[in-house]
Amino acid sequence: MAAVEKKASIADALDEQYYQINLDILESFSKYRPPLDLFRFKEDVARVLPYCRAGERLSNEKVEELAQLVEDGLVFVSRADHPVYVKHISFQLDLVLVDKNLHETEIADIFAQALTRRLGEFYQQPVAPVFVKLWTDLMVLTEYLHQDPHRVRALVKRLHTVHTLENHSFNCGAVGLAVHVKAHAASYEAGEVKRKHLDHLTCGLFLHDMGMSKVPAFILDKDKPLTPDERAKVQRHTQSGFEMLTKLDLRFAEVEECVQDHHERLNGSGYPLKKNAADIGPLARLCGLVDSYCAMVSQRPYAPAMEPMKAAAALAQDPGYDPELTRTLQALVFAQGKPK
Ligand SMILES: [Fe+2]
Ligand SMILES: [Fe+2]
Repeated sequence: MAAVEKKASIADALDEQYYQINLDILESFSKYRPPLDLFRFKEDVARVLPYCRAGERLSNEKVEELAQLVEDGLVFVSRADHPVYVKHISFQLDLVLVDKNLHETEIADIFAQALTRRLGEFYQQPVAPVFVKLWTDLMVLTEYLHQDPHRVRALVKRLHTVHTLENHSFNCGAVGLAVHVKAHAASYEAGEVKRKHLDHLTCGLFLHDMGMSKVPAFILDKDKPLTPDERAKVQRHTQSGFEMLTKLDLRFAEVEECVQDHHERLNGSGYPLKKNAADIGPLARLCGLVDSYCAMVSQRPYAPAMEPMKAAAALAQDPGYDPELTRTLQALVFAQGKPK
């Protein structure tokens, strides 16, 4: 058996219990103290045996030996250490693009953790250097989805259930992309959705509420109806979001459309400009719909979470939303709810 085939068959056999580690991943670990247990495939006994324990200090010789073993495809981590591994990779998200041993569901866990954390950091400190890190991670996501847009389905299975600004942002990004992929399936299939467009609409969907980071927490956390003054402060978030885009010098039409118009409604009942259907673009329609849906299905201070099919059905009855998009959302939610 050729060496390459032999390696592949070892990996296949162990796939369920272990991840095979590649050099990029090994190099991202602390060199002398790997953060999790490592295992080595011993060819003479055809078994995986412990190699070193999490946090154990390695000698120079062992560091060298380990690098060689990894190069030979003989080093593994246990899938039981998934949470440690997810956390580690989520801090260096581009590793998901080089790791061929992670399952789609495991990669979705990593994206959910990494992006939610980055979004939270940006809302705490909405300045350019923090934004750059978030943008970099969003671009890893678009690269990953551009290779195969259907991968977005695993992300939608990882929605947060409790409402916080960063949780809501992640949820809207994931659901928004999934509805977009479904609504434009033929264009995605034909490779007609340009990477740049995907980059910008992803940024718009994830960051549509960036202006909310300027609204005082006591208003956002309130479990009673807002006073007219408080409501006006909340409703200013589309404008303050736009001002943030200017400060960040982020001038993409897709992002501006999502940030400014996601509360406009097709029947003119929205804000801030009470636009009519003819003046509301396709991404604002999409963003407005998934924004409402994600708010309805999560647990908020003033309302319990709604059941997903019920929320999607209620939105389909509402003349403020685009009927084609609400149908697509209903189909998506229905498909997600089906047992495998
Ligand atoms: Fe909003
Ligand atoms: Fe929102």
